[in-house]
Amino acid sequence: MNHLVAPSILTADFSCLKNEIKKINNSVADWVHIDVMDGVFVPNISFGFHLIETIKKLASKPLDVHLMIVEPHKFLNEFHEAGADVLTVHYEACKHLHRTVQVIKTLGMKPGVSLNPLTPVDLLEEILPELDLVLIMTVNPGYGGQKFIESSYEKIGNLVKLREKTGSKALIEVDGGVNLSNAKKLVEAGVDVLVAGNTVFSSDNPSKTIRALKEVMR
Ligand code: DX5
Ligand code: ZN
Repeated sequence: MNHLVAPSILTADFSCLKNEIKKINNSVADWVHIDVMDGVFVPNISFGFHLIETIKKLASKPLDVHLMIVEPHKFLNEFHEAGADVLTVHYEACKHLHRTVQVIKTLGMKPGVSLNPLTPVDLLEEILPELDLVLIMTVNPGYGGQKFIESSYEKIGNLVKLREKTGSKALIEVDGGVNLSNAKKLVEAGVDVLVAGNTVFSSDNPSKTIRALKEVMR
Protein backbone atom coordinates (compact mmCIF):
# COMPACT_ATOMS: atom_id res chain seq x y z
CA MET A 1 0.00 0.00 0.00
CA ASN A 2 1.15 3.52 -0.72
CA HIS A 3 1.46 5.47 2.47
CA LEU A 4 -0.94 8.30 3.30
CA VAL A 5 -0.09 11.88 4.22
CA ALA A 6 -2.16 13.84 6.74
CA PRO A 7 -1.17 17.52 7.15
CA SER A 8 -1.86 18.76 10.67
CA ILE A 9 -3.70 22.07 10.63
CA LEU A 10 -2.41 22.92 14.12
CA THR A 11 0.45 24.85 12.49
CA ALA A 12 -1.69 26.41 9.75
CA ASP A 13 -2.27 30.16 9.55
CA PHE A 14 -5.70 30.52 11.19
CA SER A 15 -6.10 34.09 9.92
CA CYS A 16 -6.68 32.53 6.50
CA LEU A 17 -7.94 29.07 7.39
CA LYS A 18 -10.10 28.79 4.26
CA ASN A 19 -7.03 29.31 2.13
CA GLU A 20 -4.97 26.82 4.16
CA ILE A 21 -7.65 24.14 3.76
CA LYS A 22 -7.80 24.96 0.05
CA LYS A 23 -4.07 24.21 -0.17
CA ILE A 24 -4.72 20.76 1.35
CA ASN A 25 -7.72 20.20 -0.96
CA ASN A 26 -5.61 21.01 -4.01
CA SER A 27 -2.72 18.82 -2.91
CA VAL A 28 -2.15 15.04 -2.94
CA ALA A 29 -2.79 14.91 0.84
CA ASP A 30 -5.03 12.03 1.90
CA TRP A 31 -6.52 13.28 5.17
CA VAL A 32 -6.68 16.47 7.23
CA HIS A 33 -5.22 15.87 10.71
CA ILE A 34 -6.98 17.82 13.46
CA ASP A 35 -5.51 18.07 16.98
CA VAL A 36 -7.93 18.61 19.85
CA MET A 37 -6.20 19.55 23.13
CA ASP A 38 -7.92 20.22 26.45
CA GLY A 39 -5.22 21.73 28.66
CA VAL A 40 -5.55 18.73 31.04
CA PHE A 41 -4.32 15.67 29.14
CA VAL A 42 -1.75 17.90 27.47
CA PRO A 43 -0.35 21.28 28.58
CA ASN A 44 -2.00 23.18 25.73
CA ILE A 45 -5.49 24.06 24.48
CA SER A 46 -6.28 24.03 20.77
CA PHE A 47 -9.88 24.06 19.50
CA GLY A 48 -13.18 22.21 19.60
CA PHE A 49 -16.35 21.24 17.76
CA HIS A 50 -17.11 24.53 16.07
CA LEU A 51 -13.79 24.70 14.29
CA ILE A 52 -14.05 21.06 13.21
CA GLU A 53 -17.52 21.76 11.76
CA THR A 54 -16.07 24.70 9.84
CA ILE A 55 -13.18 22.60 8.50
CA LYS A 56 -15.64 19.87 7.52
CA LYS A 57 -17.51 22.34 5.30
CA LEU A 58 -14.29 23.50 3.64
CA ALA A 59 -12.32 20.25 3.31
CA SER A 60 -12.64 17.74 0.50
CA LYS A 61 -10.58 15.09 2.36
CA PRO A 62 -11.53 12.90 5.34
CA LEU A 63 -11.00 14.43 8.79
CA ASP A 64 -8.51 12.54 10.97
CA VAL A 65 -9.33 13.82 14.46
CA HIS A 66 -6.74 13.24 17.20
CA LEU A 67 -8.19 13.75 20.68
CA MET A 68 -5.64 14.75 23.31
CA ILE A 69 -8.31 15.08 25.99
CA VAL A 70 -9.28 13.30 29.19
CA GLU A 71 -12.56 11.32 29.23
CA PRO A 72 -13.02 11.37 25.44
CA HIS A 73 -16.01 8.99 25.80
CA LYS A 74 -18.12 11.95 26.92
CA PHE A 75 -17.90 13.66 23.53
CA LEU A 76 -17.89 10.91 20.88
CA ASN A 77 -21.28 11.85 19.44
CA GLU A 78 -20.32 15.52 19.27
CA PHE A 79 -17.13 14.73 17.34
CA HIS A 80 -19.14 12.55 14.99
CA GLU A 81 -21.65 15.34 14.38
CA ALA A 82 -18.83 17.83 13.87
CA GLY A 83 -17.58 15.68 10.98
CA ALA A 84 -14.80 13.35 12.23
CA ASP A 85 -14.15 10.40 9.89
CA VAL A 86 -11.28 8.82 11.84
CA LEU A 87 -11.49 9.40 15.60
CA THR A 88 -8.40 8.66 17.68
CA VAL A 89 -8.39 8.57 21.47
CA HIS A 90 -5.35 8.20 23.72
CA TYR A 91 -4.81 4.87 25.47
CA GLU A 92 -3.70 6.83 28.56
CA ALA A 93 -6.99 8.78 28.64
CA CYS A 94 -9.45 5.85 28.53
CA LYS A 95 -10.58 3.78 31.51
CA HIS A 96 -12.83 1.62 29.36
CA LEU A 97 -11.07 1.59 26.01
CA HIS A 98 -13.03 -1.34 24.60
CA ARG A 99 -16.35 0.40 25.19
CA THR A 100 -15.06 3.69 23.77
CA VAL A 101 -13.83 1.95 20.60
CA GLN A 102 -17.18 0.15 20.17
CA VAL A 103 -19.11 3.43 20.45
CA ILE A 104 -16.83 5.12 17.88
CA LYS A 105 -17.58 2.25 15.47
CA THR A 106 -21.31 2.28 16.16
CA LEU A 107 -21.38 5.97 15.31
CA GLY A 108 -19.87 5.12 11.91
CA MET A 109 -16.36 6.50 12.47
CA LYS A 110 -13.06 4.64 12.16
CA PRO A 111 -11.53 4.09 15.61
CA GLY A 112 -7.90 4.89 16.34
CA VAL A 113 -5.86 4.60 19.54
CA SER A 114 -2.82 6.75 20.22
CA LEU A 115 0.17 5.99 22.45
CA ASN A 116 2.39 8.51 24.20
CA PRO A 117 6.14 8.02 23.61
CA LEU A 118 6.68 5.85 26.72
CA THR A 119 3.50 3.75 26.47
CA PRO A 120 4.46 0.30 25.11
CA VAL A 121 2.66 -1.13 22.08
CA ASP A 122 2.10 -4.50 23.84
CA LEU A 123 -0.76 -2.91 25.78
CA LEU A 124 -2.75 -2.87 22.52
CA GLU A 125 -2.60 -6.63 21.89
CA GLU A 126 -6.24 -7.37 22.74
CA ILE A 127 -7.77 -4.26 21.15
CA LEU A 128 -5.65 -4.25 17.97
CA PRO A 129 -8.02 -6.36 15.80
CA GLU A 130 -10.81 -3.87 16.60
CA LEU A 131 -8.88 -0.82 15.40
CA ASP A 132 -8.56 0.93 12.06
CA LEU A 133 -5.55 2.93 13.21
CA VAL A 134 -2.80 3.12 15.82
CA LEU A 135 -1.19 6.52 16.23
CA ILE A 136 2.31 6.44 17.65
CA MET A 137 3.28 9.80 19.15
CA THR A 138 6.83 10.52 18.07
CA VAL A 139 6.98 13.63 20.29
CA ASN A 140 5.31 14.31 23.63
CA PRO A 141 1.82 15.46 22.64
CA GLY A 142 0.81 19.08 23.05
CA TYR A 143 2.73 21.19 20.57
CA GLY A 144 3.71 21.33 16.94
CA GLY A 145 7.29 21.84 15.83
CA GLN A 146 9.02 19.52 18.34
CA LYS A 147 11.97 17.21 17.71
CA PHE A 148 11.28 13.63 16.60
CA ILE A 149 12.09 10.98 19.26
CA GLU A 150 14.57 8.58 17.62
CA SER A 151 13.62 5.52 19.69
CA SER A 152 10.28 5.55 17.86
CA TYR A 153 11.63 3.35 15.05
CA GLU A 154 11.98 0.41 17.42
CA LYS A 155 8.46 0.98 18.69
CA ILE A 156 7.10 1.02 15.14
CA GLY A 157 8.90 -2.28 14.50
CA ASN A 158 7.30 -3.80 17.61
CA LEU A 159 3.88 -2.64 16.45
CA VAL A 160 4.39 -4.12 12.97
CA LYS A 161 5.15 -7.49 14.63
CA LEU A 162 2.16 -7.24 16.95
CA ARG A 163 -0.10 -6.36 14.03
CA GLU A 164 1.04 -9.50 12.22
CA LYS A 165 0.60 -11.64 15.34
CA THR A 166 -2.96 -10.42 15.96
CA GLY A 167 -4.04 -10.36 12.30
CA SER A 168 -5.03 -6.72 12.72
CA LYS A 169 -5.47 -4.49 9.67
CA ALA A 170 -4.92 -1.27 11.64
CA LEU A 171 -2.95 1.44 9.88
CA ILE A 172 0.15 2.69 11.68
CA GLU A 173 0.28 6.49 11.90
CA VAL A 174 3.11 8.61 13.30
CA ASP A 175 2.70 12.14 14.60
CA GLY A 176 5.33 14.62 15.70
CA GLY A 177 8.57 15.83 14.16
CA VAL A 178 7.96 14.15 10.81
CA ASN A 179 10.01 15.82 8.08
CA LEU A 180 11.50 15.21 4.66
CA SER A 181 14.63 13.69 6.22
CA ASN A 182 12.95 10.98 8.32
CA ALA A 183 9.81 10.25 6.26
CA LYS A 184 11.41 7.54 4.09
CA LYS A 185 12.91 5.71 7.06
CA LEU A 186 9.51 5.83 8.79
CA VAL A 187 7.67 4.34 5.82
CA GLU A 188 10.39 1.69 5.47
CA ALA A 189 9.89 0.85 9.16
CA GLY A 190 6.22 0.12 8.44
CA VAL A 191 4.38 3.43 8.84
CA ASP A 192 1.19 3.80 6.76
CA VAL A 193 0.22 7.39 7.61
CA LEU A 194 2.56 10.35 8.07
CA VAL A 195 1.20 13.34 9.98
CA ALA A 196 3.11 16.57 9.38
CA GLY A 197 2.38 20.04 10.71
CA ASN A 198 5.41 22.26 10.81
CA THR A 199 7.07 20.57 7.83
CA VAL A 200 4.05 21.34 5.64
CA PHE A 201 2.78 24.70 6.85
CA SER A 202 6.13 26.35 7.55
CA SER A 203 7.35 25.52 4.07
CA ASP A 204 7.23 27.99 1.18
CA ASN A 205 5.00 25.70 -0.84
CA PRO A 206 2.81 23.39 1.31
CA SER A 207 1.35 21.54 -1.72
CA LYS A 208 4.83 20.78 -3.00
CA THR A 209 5.96 19.62 0.46
CA ILE A 210 2.92 17.33 0.76
CA ARG A 211 3.83 15.86 -2.64
CA ALA A 212 7.42 15.36 -1.49
CA LEU A 213 6.20 13.52 1.65
CA LYS A 214 3.95 11.39 -0.54
CA GLU A 215 6.80 10.51 -2.89
CA VAL A 216 9.56 9.61 -0.41
CA MET A 217 9.56 6.00 -1.57
CA ARG A 218 10.12 6.81 -5.26
C1 DX5 B 1 1.27 17.26 18.61
C2 DX5 B 1 0.18 17.02 17.60
C3 DX5 B 1 0.67 16.96 16.21
C4 DX5 B 1 1.34 18.21 15.71
C5 DX5 B 1 2.48 17.75 14.86
O1 DX5 B 1 0.83 17.00 19.88
O2 DX5 B 1 -0.50 15.82 17.86
O3 DX5 B 1 -0.33 16.54 15.29
O4 DX5 B 1 0.51 19.04 14.94
O5 DX5 B 1 3.23 18.83 14.52
P1 DX5 B 1 4.68 18.69 13.88
O6 DX5 B 1 4.53 17.92 12.61
O7 DX5 B 1 5.06 20.12 13.64
O8 DX5 B 1 5.55 18.01 14.89
ZN1 ZN C 1 -1.87 14.95 16.22
